[in-house]
Amino acid sequence: MNRGTVSLRSGNEVSVIAAHGLSEDEFKKGTYSLGEGIIGRVAKLGSPIVIPNIGDEPMFLNKTGSRVNIKKEKVAFLCVPVKFKTEILGVLNVDRLYDTKGISFEEDIKLLKIIASLMAQSIKLHMEVEKEREAFNQERENLKHQLKGKYRLENIIGHSDRMQEVFESVHRVAPSRANVLLRGESGTGKELIAKALHYMSPRAKNPFIKFNCASIPEGLLESELFGHEKGAFTGAMALRKGRFELAHTGTIFLDEIGDLPLSLQPKILRVLQEKEFERVGGEKTITVDVRLIAATSRDLEKLVGSGNFREDLYYRLNVVPIYLPPLRDRKEDIPFLADFFMGKYNKENRKSAEISADELNLLMQYTWPGNVRELENTIERLVVMSTGKTVSLRDIPAVIREAALRKQAAGPGDALPLTIADIEKQRIIEALKHAGWNQAKAARMLGITSRQIGYKIKIYGISKK
Ligand SMILES: Nc1ncnc2c1ncn2[C@@H]1O[C@H](COP(=O)(O)OP(=O)(O)OP(=O)(O)O)[C@@H](O)[C@H]1O
Ligand SMILES: [Mg+2]
Repeated sequence: MNRGTVSLRSGNEVSVIAAHGLSEDEFKKGTYSLGEGIIGRVAKLGSPIVIPNIGDEPMFLNKTGSRVNIKKEKVAFLCVPVKFKTEILGVLNVDRLYDTKGISFEEDIKLLKIIASLMAQSIKLHMEVEKEREAFNQERENLKHQLKGKYRLENIIGHSDRMQEVFESVHRVAPSRANVLLRGESGTGKELIAKALHYMSPRAKNPFIKFNCASIPEGLLESELFGHEKGAFTGAMALRKGRFELAHTGTIFLDEIGDLPLSLQPKILRVLQEKEFERVGGEKTITVDVRLIAATSRDLEKLVGSGNFREDLYYRLNVVPIYLPPLRDRKEDIPFLADFFMGKYNKENRKSAEISADELNLLMQYTWPGNVRELENTIERLVVMSTGKTVSLRDIPAVIREAALRKQAAGPGDALPLTIADIEKQRIIEALKHAGWNQAKAARMLGITSRQIGYKIKIYGISKK
């Protein structure tokens, strides 16, 4: 043979994918539609064609332009389909120089058919592998997505199931105008969620007014919230709008609602129910359209029980309660939060500090009474104090280090700390579950080798129970 090409079918086209004796340029031109020319015909019909002398053959297109002095050369064109069972995958063809008239091409075709059948098998295999790889990649993407969490909120970290539930609620109630009551310890992210609710709602472009009910003395609260007319009291030199009026068409966020004095509660209830109020010292009734989001870290039910919080207001507020779990109950979020805050404070301080596994381990052993806020402050400090890439263990506050030491001394007992190893183990178990306990499949999902997963399964003592 002095020239040869292999072409593959894809849809209604056949394209040269490998060639001998063709230039790059000629190679690129080799695309035929099914039925076009000899290659196209073989690809369509699936049976060999022999052209004893291409110079005499009008069907011969010479599309690649590789045979310029066709008339002078005596060239035969032998073309066989590349078939897997009955499926036509492509075409194999060769140019064969000859000098004697009446040569039999039978032997040549036989040989080419054998070669084509070998090709078909490896092409098919390759296609299957490709398809499988696609499927696995897809699966892995899906899994990654699941692990990352279906629900995402801008700049709010939460991969734990508990936080995913919170995110799901946020996605569901944000579009409505239902009152939301955010519960949770200090520093768990109540204000962050309140803002997310507003900015994900149809009111996003309208005001978000925040007010902390514990921030000012009882006597001033009413005029802060509802405003006052000019001369309503000594010092009221001009008319002043209150927070509810400012929040008109938007959202009002009442923080520490548990600290709202009893005397003011009926007025809040009225705004919620009737959307009306009067300014302090005013007669005129003002109507507002405001969505209320309230937050508290206090035990509202207890306050209701002791008569310090009105039951009717409690029910009004509690239409959609969202509970933000303390950080100690979702330790798996710590590495992600740490990473997020490292990024934030590195950027702010133009640093590039990195946190090591050892430090992360310390952070994971601590119980974080101040929750995410405390973690954020700790990381900020680590970044600020860092030199170069390294943060120093010494910059981790002593309380945190000591807590970890105490835990280690206590040994494995109650409340085992969640470590990176625990998380890894958890992920492997999840992947195995997803993969129906097929180790190879689970390994692919996690992007590790079968050997690696086998090893981890052994060291973590994972078994299907
Ligand atoms: N899931 C989170 N992802 C990223 N940052 C968070 C997250 N939760 C809290 N933070 C950050 O932690 C700090 C405290 O959060 P936030 O002020 O919302 O808490 P809070 O529940 O309102 O606390 P408090 O009851 O003390 O007012 C903020 O800087 C906030 O940005
Ligand atoms: Mg707050």
